[in-house]
Amino acid sequence: MSSKKSNAPPKKKIVIVGGGIIGCTTAYYLSHHPSFRSDIDEITVLEASTTGVAQGASGKAGGLVAKWAYPRELVDVSFPEHVRLAELHNGAERWGWRYVNCGSWEGRGEDAPSLANVGSAIGDGGDKTSLEKTAGLEDSDVEQRKGKGLPDDLGWVKESLTDFYSPMAGDGDTAQVHPYLFTTSMLELAQSKGVKLLLGAIAASIEFDMENVTGVCYQSLTAPMKFIPATHAILCAGPWTPTILPSVPVKTTRVHSIVIQPQPDVQISPYVLFTKIDPPEGFGDKTASPEVYARPNNEVYVCGPGDKSSLPYFVGGVKVDDAACEAIFQQVASISSELRAGTVVKKQACFLPVVKEGKLGGPIVGPALRMAKGYYIATGHTCWGICNAPGTAKVLAELVYEGKITSAKLADLAPSKYATTL
Ligand SMILES: Cc1cc2nc3c(=O)[nH]c(=O)nc-3n(C[C@H](O)[C@H](O)[C@H](O)COP(=O)(O)OP(=O)(O)OC[C@H]3O[C@@H](n4cnc5c(N)ncnc54)[C@H](O)[C@@H]3O)c2cc1C
Ligand SMILES: *[C@@H]1O[C@H](CO)[C@@H](O)[C@H](O)[C@H]1NC(C)=O
Repeated sequence: MSSKKSNAPPKKKIVIVGGGIIGCTTAYYLSHHPSFRSDIDEITVLEASTTGVAQGASGKAGGLVAKWAYPRELVDVSFPEHVRLAELHNGAERWGWRYVNCGSWEGRGEDAPSLANVGSAIGDGGDKTSLEKTAGLEDSDVEQRKGKGLPDDLGWVKESLTDFYSPMAGDGDTAQVHPYLFTTSMLELAQSKGVKLLLGAIAASIEFDMENVTGVCYQSLTAPMKFIPATHAILCAGPWTPTILPSVPVKTTRVHSIVIQPQPDVQISPYVLFTKIDPPEGFGDKTASPEVYARPNNEVYVCGPGDKSSLPYFVGGVKVDDAACEAIFQQVASISSELRAGTVVKKQACFLPVVKEGKLGGPIVGPALRMAKGYYIATGHTCWGICNAPGTAKVLAELVYEGKITSAKLADLAPSKYATTL
């Protein structure tokens, strides 16, 4: 009896701080690791939001997964893992996994005097723009499209406004997920293995003794501080990470986005477009660069530029500026009749976790050995956190259950490279 007890590895109590895509995907990989013992080990996700997980950038991102994303060493693990997860769990149905075309588009927007009335104009039949399809193209138009590089099936931006189109990589190099559905699916699959989620739990500190992590202190907006014991703590609070550990050099920028539901008869072909839109003649000289993502459910997601709005205390306090969302809509409406005739069904904002430390750009992934044993950091994923979540989560599970990272060489991402205290 006693020899059996001493041979078995000690019970692991793992606390994950932050229920974004990094935290939820990590919960999945930990709970699906061959050494995880569901009857012994405990995994708990602490999430500040009272509503659910993926309330920040992880639920409001575009969702592009690209082989040419960065850093390369993490993408090389993440892309095949995305493919594997999608096959294993029917990601196509569950989180909108599919391969998608991706290109950069440049051109000039056209004046749209009736834009302000778009909402009320929908469905009255007066706007025939949604019927402008490539099927009606003359041969000369086809030649012109080719000259501009515009693919035949990209019918939802106006050819006449296009100066230039160029695909960003080859077939099979870009895919997409619906980031909110991917994140919540990862959590649900982890919960099916026994992972626990605590909502409204705002972590204040990760505690440790001379050597090891001992637990995490957290509070809710109304309740006093509580302590949850832990042998391992994984800090993945995205842009909020420095509120728990100030030496982590994560900065942040707010980004607005909208979701457009086209009219029912309009099919939006699968393209992600990085645009450069000059304003219509007479509307100044400010170029806009919204990113436009067609999604499998035929919705279109568009995000705009970042701003310097300061990070609120918790994710529930993020403010949405209606004017910023309206501007994004005007920009894409100026190059697409199909989008102009659509309905804006979501206006949102979120904070991007950014790392800029000398020449290092993040993300920061690995053990914080100078803090304590069992202390891990995974944050600062910048604009590629959706793409890089599976690789990040896989190596964290290796660290916890195998003691070292085996599937990639990530020395450059180690926390110790970013601060002498980590
Ligand atoms: C507009 C936009 C478009 C993007 N498009 C793409 C894309 O196409 N492809 C791609 O790969 N990436 C994209 N990204 C990047 C991606 O969204 C992020 O890198 C990723 O979501 C970061 O995930 P995270 O889990 O680290 O952070 P978050 O999503 O911010 O999650 C952190 C979580 O921690 C919680 N938290 C914070 N503090 C505490 C605390 N003290 N206690 C408990 N919980 C706490 C928060 O409430 C939050 O839920 C985009 C980002 C933006 C802003
Ligand atoms: C830290 O953890 C290890 C492994 O569980 C244990 O042997 C050691 O005694 C711990 N250190 C302290 C200071 O408790």
